[in-house]
Formats: sequence, structure tokens, C-alpha cells
Amino acid sequence: MASADGLPDKLVRASLADVMPYVPGRAGDADADVVALASNEGPFDPMPGAQEAVRAGAHEHRLYPDPGAWALRDELAGRLGLPVEQVLPGAGIDGLIASLAALTLDPGDELAMCWPSFLSWRQRCLVQGATVREAPLTAAGAYDLDALADRVGDRTKLAVVVSPNNPTGAPVGADELERFLDGLPAHVLPVLDEAYFEYLPAGSHDGASLVREGRRLAVLRTFSKAYGLAGLRVGYLAGPAELVTAMGKVRPAFEVNAPAQAAAVASLREAGAELPARVALIERERKRLRTCLEGLGVAPLPSAANFLYIDLGSPDRAAAVNRSLVEDGVMVRPTAPFGAPAGLRMTIGRPEENDRLMAVLPGALSSV
Ligand SMILES: Cc1ncc(COP(=O)(O)O)c(C=O)c1O
Repeated sequence: MASADGLPDKLVRASLADVMPYVPGRAGDADADVVALASNEGPFDPMPGAQEAVRAGAHEHRLYPDPGAWALRDELAGRLGLPVEQVLPGAGIDGLIASLAALTLDPGDELAMCWPSFLSWRQRCLVQGATVREAPLTAAGAYDLDALADRVGDRTKLAVVVSPNNPTGAPVGADELERFLDGLPAHVLPVLDEAYFEYLPAGSHDGASLVREGRRLAVLRTFSKAYGLAGLRVGYLAGPAELVTAMGKVRPAFEVNAPAQAAAVASLREAGAELPARVALIERERKRLRTCLEGLGVAPLPSAANFLYIDLGSPDRAAAVNRSLVEDGVMVRPTAPFGAPAGLRMTIGRPEENDRLMAVLPGALSSV
């Protein structure tokens, strides 16, 4: 029997009843005069060598990509100081989250994380029919690792730490992270989402070095932010060799496409020359936007990433400020889907884009 909407009854798994479908917005006219500060990619183009690598491989796309992504794995392993067996490229951190959840979570199992935070962790857990155990953030918007430890129970398989946290921006401290890892029971795999790793200040945590020390920990990083490759979808996992092998049960064979593999290798080779200036620009522009916001009476939370988060006190005010910004052609991110309905997240853009945002902010904030 087909249901009214044309699908067989009970086709969609009953356990997905509470999972909201992802509704992609339309990007709109690329030529339109809109400043896009909503998706945290940041202001950077792919590095020159990465652009060249994509162009140079264009005639080869008749063939499937290297399913092992070996050149990229070798390059990553060398730079991280890990055996190649402990490194796994994926289709962005998002692709790796999907595979990790599919590998580990059955109905009844649990994933512990703080909330508000990056929604893919929550979404992928729910898709598995598993349970999210949520802990609060600290007042600064960082993961509260004591509260998170309290949420870990007998059925918890994954304990996720997003640092710096999205959408709020604050990182956890290196020492408290190690204490948290030390205190976890043996049946839990801790996962450190370091999507904004490149922007962390000196002395912060470095998940790869924790993996090098032999800790049982999965670390996730991406080429979508500081490397400017968000459109190509490439990231990686560093962790126990047994985990990398087990991921082969669930991951798509040709997960990382050929241009993405080539661009990521080229980017790593240029990182030493290119990244410091990128990080410096983010720090400079973030400070400028912070000063502007503070002057307007809305102090953003501390941020070690390429975005700032402001709390507007109520969902209505956040919606009104967002509406005004959209009318002025500036797109920022309302953070209700991340569990923060009174907030807005603003990606640090190019200096001239940040100028546009700062020019319209006074009107947006005073219009409500
Ligand atoms: C904390 C966090 N993890 C993962 C991702 C996804 O990264 P990727 O583009 O590699 O899928 C993002 C993207 O915004 C993020 O903020």
C-alpha cells in the first residue's frame, strides 16, 4: 500500500521520526551584492598550488579516484608524525562523523557531547537511533568537560569534544582535556573535533600529539577552513590503527574525490608559507569585529576560531537582527539549529566584507 505522499508505508525508518531533514538554502545569484558570513568557511581561496593541482588533474576525471588516497595519507602521516595506518582522509569531517556514527552506534547506545554545539554530531547519532547525552557549555561557551564526564554512562560509546566549539568559539584547555581523557572509562572512545585547529593560539591542545603519545583518541581535522577547500570536501581522522581499519566497514570506497586529494596534498606542502598570514588575518579581523560589537553593547563570547558568537537575549531579537542584516545584504548564521536560539554566529570574512557587516550592524542592533 502506498501512502498519500507516494512512498510505501513505513519506508522511512520509524527511528527517524524525530530527525529533521536538512533543508539546503539556495545560494542565490553569485553576482548579487551579498556578503556571505554564515557558513564559517572563512575568507581564504585555495592555496596557489592547490588551484594548480586541481587544474592539472582535470583531464583525468574519467577514472575513479585513488580509494586509498595514499598520496594524501603519506603526506599527512609524515607531517603528523604518525604511521600511515593511523591516518584516514574522508569527505570532510562531516563525512567522517557519518562513518564513525555508523561504525559505533546502535539503538540504545549513547554519544555524549556538550550542547549548543556542532549539529552533525547530534544528527548522525539520532540517525543511528542512538541517544545523545547532552552536557552544558561553560559560561565562556567552551565544552564543560566535568559536566561532560558526568554524562558518560555504561552505554556511552563516543564522548565528543568540539574545540574550539561551534557556534560559540571557545576552546578547552590542554590540561583539562588531558585530565578528561585520563578519567574516561575504557569502553568509551573520545573524539576531538579540531575543525578550527589552525586558529588555536600557541600552547593549546594538539590532538595529533595526543595520538602520537599512544592515547586512544580519534582526532578530526579539515581542509575546509584555513586551507580554503570547503567546496572540495576533504578532512581527515588521526587515531588508533584499529579504528582506521574498522572504518573500512562503513566508509564509501571512493569517498575523497581526485581533485580534493590533489588539492589537499598541495595545500599541506604550501602550509608553512601560507598559513601564518592567514591566521594573522583572522586574528586581526576578529579583533576588529569584536571591538565593533562591544562598542554596540553586545560582547561576543571569547573565540579562538574564524567566527564570533553573540547572544541577543531572546530568539525574537536574534531573528529581528538577522532579518535586518539580510535586508542589508549580509548573511550571518542564526544558531537555533545548534541549540542556541537567541544567538547569531558571524564568520570572519575578507576585510571589505567585515567592513560591510560593521557598517550595517548599528542599524540592525538598534532597529529592535
Ligand atoms: C566543529 C565542526 N566540525 C566539523 C565541521 C565540518 O567540517 P567539514 O567541512 O570538514 O565537513 C564544521 C564545519 O563548520 C565544524 O564547525
